Amino acid sequence: MSGKWLVTGANGYLGGEVCRGLQKEDYDVCALARPGHTLDSLEKCGVTCHSYDALPGLMAEGDVFVHCAGKVCDTGLWDDYQQINVDWTLSLYEQAIQRGARCFVYVSSVAALGYSKRQSDIDLDESDEPLLTTGELYGRSKLLAEQALQQRSRTAQTRLVILRPGFIYGRRPLAPSQRWLRRGSIVDPNQRVPLVHVDNFLSALTRTGKDTNASGIFLVVDDEQPMLGELNALKLEYGILQYPPWRIGKTGFRLLCLVRNLARRLRGQGALPEGYAASQYLMRTRSLSYSTKKLKGQTGWEPAVSLEVGLQESDARKQPAPERLDS
Ligand SMILES: NC(=O)c1ccc[n+]([C@@H]2O[C@H](COP(=O)([O-])OP(=O)(O)OC[C@H]3O[C@@H](n4cnc5c(N)ncnc54)[C@H](OP(=O)(O)O)[C@@H]3O)[C@@H](O)[C@H]2O)c1
Repeated sequence: MSGKWLVTGANGYLGGEVCRGLQKEDYDVCALARPGHTLDSLEKCGVTCHSYDALPGLMAEGDVFVHCAGKVCDTGLWDDYQQINVDWTLSLYEQAIQRGARCFVYVSSVAALGYSKRQSDIDLDESDEPLLTTGELYGRSKLLAEQALQQRSRTAQTRLVILRPGFIYGRRPLAPSQRWLRRGSIVDPNQRVPLVHVDNFLSALTRTGKDTNASGIFLVVDDEQPMLGELNALKLEYGILQYPPWRIGKTGFRLLCLVRNLARRLRGQGALPEGYAASQYLMRTRSLSYSTKKLKGQTGWEPAVSLEVGLQESDARKQPAPERLDS
């Protein structure tokens, strides 16, 4: 297939994996990151790397543009989310249109739908209305970006694909290192975790990027969407977790938020954003599951890597021992 694949956020987790995955499959890949950010490991794999300054001269007719860069954390100022996730995304799509790019793929998130409980337990799909609370800044910025892109795509030749992945895992540690006292915490073991293995995400990306009939929003989530309690049991079995996280419930969670807020104020970082605690509570107790019928039906996508295989591959006991700095 002619045309190269330009990938933003190439120094991040997903952008890097996308570049390596495309390169492995013999696509012509061009990795992009901010000036000064090292892309050495990609260059070593033979990927062409540039900073965003070079973009106007790089983009050409027939290219596929994959926008992975974005503000991903769950705290911060709304203006930053707006500027990075909404305004910048739209300006990149505009450049892609002007240069005659074949396709623009935006990596959004299931967070764009919001984590509020719905009235029925049916899997959410692309036609469901987003339901966001005040504190869901990340999800809101993803949703606004999607809406701005869709509005622009109505009069554009460059095909628009919006992928909404769940939590992407694979080829990076799946849990923070634990100690007996520092084990992380669970608010609700029945929380659903919409995982997607990075290889399954890559397959969704290449299928939608190439298929000229694929356009609009696609949810990208593996078939197994386990509850957190089940997932942690598997992680313990496979040595990914050493200790079960503390179960703190609603009261413990409230206390944790109070302590975090106090610590931020003492460090002069300002209070957490309005609605932060409520949105975090929603996220940590969500019971939503997602349908991928559209992606499967339109592109033939199937998540080839199962949860069991994905987790076994992340088994801490099979990971090489970390290199000693003094050796
Ligand atoms: N990982 C997941 O589970 C997941 C799930 C759903 C959706 N997503 C989406 O996938 C994308 C990549 O996520 P990730 O997990 O790979 O996160 P990541 O490792 O933190 O990478 C984020 C990338 O965005 C770049 N970025 C952040 N702010 C920027 C700015 N102002 N200007 C230019 N670049 C900026 C970062 O570059 P710097 O290093 O220069 O800051 C980095 O390359 C995001 O859009 C995220 O919303 C990820």
